[in-house]
Amino acid sequence: MNLDRQILALLQEEGREHVPASELTQRLQVPQDLLTAHIEEMRALGYEITLSPHLGYALERTPDILHADSIQALLQPDSIVGNSVRVFAETSSTSDVVETLARAGTPEGAVVFAESQTRGRGRLGRKWISPAGEGLWFSVLLRPKLAPALATQFTIAAAVAAVRAVKFCTQLRPQIKWPNDLLLNGKKFAGILTELQAEPEQIRYLILGIGIDVNCMMFPGELKEIATSLRLESGEKVDRVKLAGTLLQELDRAYAAIRGNAFEKLAQEWESLCTTLGREIALDTGARVLRGHAEALDADGSLLIRTEHGRLERAVGGELRVV
Ligand code: BTN
Repeated sequence: MNLDRQILALLQEEGREHVPASELTQRLQVPQDLLTAHIEEMRALGYEITLSPHLGYALERTPDILHADSIQALLQPDSIVGNSVRVFAETSSTSDVVETLARAGTPEGAVVFAESQTRGRGRLGRKWISPAGEGLWFSVLLRPKLAPALATQFTIAAAVAAVRAVKFCTQLRPQIKWPNDLLLNGKKFAGILTELQAEPEQIRYLILGIGIDVNCMMFPGELKEIATSLRLESGEKVDRVKLAGTLLQELDRAYAAIRGNAFEKLAQEWESLCTTLGREIALDTGARVLRGHAEALDADGSLLIRTEHGRLERAVGGELRVV
């Protein structure tokens, strides 16, 4: 762990307002002048760190810029998700960057954020608008030892993790529209794009791409009617760094649950948050349109639909409309 991240982690320790300089130098095993130099550098990056002669250092404000150190300072040291974090000012798509990392053999858990994306993509080949500094646009590399048919579990797990993180960081109570949309007051504020490379029997790697409209104040054209942001819904600017760190922690927890065969618990939480179950729906899978009653979530994360002909059909993706 680098020194900046350790300093931030200590200054952010729960319940601490000030940390004496002597405690920092002792716990970090560094001389005072090195500590002072690092704190100066961090101040230049926008961290508001004050020093009171009697009480010590305090982190008053973290800049509204995604820095790998400030995000990782919020994670458990043994967390898989976020074991490496890269932040780009701009990139085509964070999922493309993660794909390149995956092909190069990067270990699972790597996360790539971008302040803005020039070719952000959503499901079904749609464009994902990713303006600078207004959202969280990031992708996570995972290498689960699971069959490709279970990939939907990750979309479900990511949706639950994102809801938990938003609840922790705001007063908002999001809902989920199967399989990957996060909603507030019926409008979408976040989406998840799960992509994978697999052998017939096992996933080689999986890329979870997550986009959250955090502090966006305006949406172009037809998006105005269907999209929203955390800031628009809460009336308050949301701390993106805190949300990013909390979400990576929740993703790590959810991934541990999947590895520990506890997907069922996540699925139950997902079901309690889902606006789709129990409704009459039309699902366009590309090949056909399934109409019926959204009955339940299956063990692999797919949606079970009781069709108008009484058959139970399983769906893993598509464009869903509540009718
Ligand atoms: C959807 O709802 O259609 C999924 C949207 C996923 C958007 C995210 S933003 C980060 C990552 N990079 C991309 O190009 N897409 C995903």
